[in-house]
Amino acid sequence: MPAPQASSRPEPAAVNLRPVERAPEALAEVAAEVLDLIEQRRRADKPCVLGLATGSTMLGFYAELVRRVRAEDRDLSGLRSFNLDEFVGLPAEHPQSFAAYMRVHLIEPAGLDPASVRIPDGELARQDPRAVAAAYEQEIVAAGGLEIQLLGLGRNGHIGFNEPGSALDSRTRQVDLAESTRDDAAAAFGGLEAVPRHAITMGVATILDARRVRVLAFGERKADAVAATLRGDGDAAWPCSYLGSHPDVRLYVDGPAVQGR
Ligand code: GLP
Repeated sequence: MPAPQASSRPEPAAVNLRPVERAPEALAEVAAEVLDLIEQRRRADKPCVLGLATGSTMLGFYAELVRRVRAEDRDLSGLRSFNLDEFVGLPAEHPQSFAAYMRVHLIEPAGLDPASVRIPDGELARQDPRAVAAAYEQEIVAAGGLEIQLLGLGRNGHIGFNEPGSALDSRTRQVDLAESTRDDAAAAFGGLEAVPRHAITMGVATILDARRVRVLAFGERKADAVAATLRGDGDAAWPCSYLGSHPDVRLYVDGPAVQGR
């Protein structure tokens, strides 16, 4: 009799490295994959559930997605999505909230129903982060789980806002932001003091539950995080290295991001 399986997660394959000359090539490839899946699900009369990310790296992805949706008159009515994270304490109207980012870069230009793009509620999370986190996890499960999770990498190896020290089995929760993460956000907030100290983020396990993970990392400042992702050794000091335990992860990089490997 076969031994019982310890986990339902399939055996991992190595991280699939996709080097590109320039970022737009990768952004176009990932946008095409996402649009193909939305179309497949639409034909089957099913929703397509995506995990979405923010950050400067993703701007080009949303621009490409919106460009194709408009040019090809695509029907995105079946799209449902869950964003990775949000700053705790920021209302959705705050210009630096990820809710505002999604409104400006995806919901409005693509003409999406705002209710179909879920983002952890940063304002509610200030009052009851546990309730917000638990409800978010339940909502993802109720939607059938994430089909493709898009990810950028923090310079310190964070994924979502799972900072160094995050556990493999972590779920959606409130976290303390690392100093380097707050420093990176300081300019956008007009100074370090204005940057929130906490965020609510999907956990590492939440991310790894997605059926496919597509990671985008460009430029020299991502080189250490890219190297850790490729090691894939599950080192808590580099949360991106947990991605090595996922069976279908593609890492899109440009030349400077793989330098020093
Ligand atoms: C923030 C987000 C991450 C994102 C990272 C990288 O920290 N929480 O999800 O991956 O920024 O941002 P950028 O693409 O601007 O380098």
